Amino acid sequence: MKHTWHYAKKAGWLIAAALLLKLAAAYLELQIPSALADIIDDGVPAAQAAGNLDPILHYGTIMAIFAVAAFLTNLAGNVLSTHASCRITEDMRQDLFRKVSYLSARQVDEVTISSAISRLTSDTYNVNTMFMRCLRMGVRAPILMIGGIIVTLTKDPVLPVALIVMIPLIAFITIKLTRKVIPMFRERQRRLDVMVNAVQAGASGIRVIKALSKTQYEMDHFDKINDDLAEMRYRAGVTNAKIHPITALILNLSLVSVIVLGAVRVTGGQMLPGQIVAFINYFTIILNATMSFSGIFMVLTNGLASAQRIEQVLNMPETMTVEELPPVESEYAVEFRDVCFSYNGVDHNVSHLSFGLKEGETLGIIGATGSGKTTILNLLLRLYDVDEGQILIGGRDVRSIPNDELRAMFGVTFQNDFLFADAIGKNIDFFRDLDPAAVKKAAVLAQAEAFIEDKGGMDATLTIRGNNASGGQRQRLLIARALAGDPKILVLDDASSALDYRTDADLRKALAENYAHTTKFIVAQRVSSIRSADQILVLDGGEVIGHGTHDELMASCEAYREIAHIQMETEEVDDSAS
Ligand SMILES: Nc1ncnc2c1ncn2[C@@H]1O[C@H](COP(=O)(O)OP(=O)(O)OP(=O)(O)O)[C@@H](O)[C@H]1O
Ligand SMILES: [Mg+2]
Repeated sequence: MKHTWHYAKKAGWLIAAALLLKLAAAYLELQIPSALADIIDDGVPAAQAAGNLDPILHYGTIMAIFAVAAFLTNLAGNVLSTHASCRITEDMRQDLFRKVSYLSARQVDEVTISSAISRLTSDTYNVNTMFMRCLRMGVRAPILMIGGIIVTLTKDPVLPVALIVMIPLIAFITIKLTRKVIPMFRERQRRLDVMVNAVQAGASGIRVIKALSKTQYEMDHFDKINDDLAEMRYRAGVTNAKIHPITALILNLSLVSVIVLGAVRVTGGQMLPGQIVAFINYFTIILNATMSFSGIFMVLTNGLASAQRIEQVLNMPETMTVEELPPVESEYAVEFRDVCFSYNGVDHNVSHLSFGLKEGETLGIIGATGSGKTTILNLLLRLYDVDEGQILIGGRDVRSIPNDELRAMFGVTFQNDFLFADAIGKNIDFFRDLDPAAVKKAAVLAQAEAFIEDKGGMDATLTIRGNNASGGQRQRLLIARALAGDPKILVLDDASSALDYRTDADLRKALAENYAHTTKFIVAQRVSSIRSADQILVLDGGEVIGHGTHDELMASCEAYREIAHIQMETEEVDDSAS
């Protein structure tokens, strides 16, 4: 919990001031019932004797002053508590977001994106609620309870007994029910996560679901998740709802006994009627305070569990630090030297990979799904660190290049990359404040100009994920984004799979003519997309089973020949030879 305490310490003054004010408010509140008793027991007889209302007004003013002062200090205490808890969670959320942004891809795999989102949103919310409720009630409730008991005991030794007997009973029932309900709340939260996931998956897969007539299946699936959630909500809600009526019943029963006992003592002349009124007020205060412990207990358990989930991320080590590695001799612009890598540390996803590309050369990568194509790019971009070997850019190990510098070298289109709901031009610029002329040039070279015009130009807007553009149009916008920064190294992962052969060929021609000094990595499923590359890697299960030019591979690599022949049968290879 060291981070949580650190944030709390930073808001130390606010917390101290809030607690002091809440302390003062509780003290003032405890004076009010006594002041009321004074009005009834001293003020009324004095007024009757004097024949005017002055004594009542006198005592009434004292009570009003206490009431207003209690109100003001309580209000100020609550405002400061809110302020402190908001500041604590703001700091926490900020650091958490920064940390999540700096996590390595491997760590993100471990945490998962949806869990990172829920830690940033609902967990920080729980921590916020915990601090707010604890600051507001954490001091107030015990002071009102213990202070109330002490005050009543000093006024009468018998009546408080009726109450003190009840407190353990209330505490017992509240703790029992709260302990039952807390795991239910957790389970409810987990089922809510399942539901959110299902909604996300359903919404993003809506086209596939419709195309495959899976709508009924999806609806049944959702119904089940929804039922599960509703059932848990109901059970948690009912258990939680029992706490208040049960404690209220005990409270009222103890009040009845206090009144009966008090009436007996008043009749016997041992007590004044005003004191009974004061006692009833004290008891209400004490019992309310006792009841509020269940709420504090609940937010505390929830808040601490959430704080732990947040700390777990904050405590993750920084793995992608810049390492001091001396530059080495390399005749290539980009070189992989005997690179091995595994996502799970067990089976190699890339093994003993070596190749070198001179500046401006193109590497084509082809292979079955899951053969490691994207993995090579992930390693080049240093989204993951290699387990063995080295990746060199201009003789510098990627691990020794500062992150910003490394990122600035690349123009990248990932497989299934995303467009966002904004102007086409902004989607290409991608927050880099590029020259509009560069954006336009990239669009032209990515063969996107004609359809951008049809859509209404660079200011025309895309809907979420670019859903109002076709698959091939989206790919061209993404390629334009990769080209617009005039990168040193261009990485296209399956970026032209949805383009027709003509457009794909035009794109390759434009790349060759305009990006002669850009080193290019092109992952493709089609031989036609990479046949003119300077080198081609054929991958299978993370191993290189062929390395050479198209012609060399046609002569030497059985697997490559097979892919090419299958595609030639569908006239793809011929069609693209331009
Ligand atoms: N984040 C990850 N965690 C664990 N395993 C992964 C991860 N990403 C990929 N893999 C595994 O690594 C292997 C290589 O995956 P990779 O994404 O490189 O394949 P690919 O050749 O790009 O396939 P595709 O043509 O389908 O894009 C696969 O077995 C895949 O399941
Ligand atoms: Mg891939």
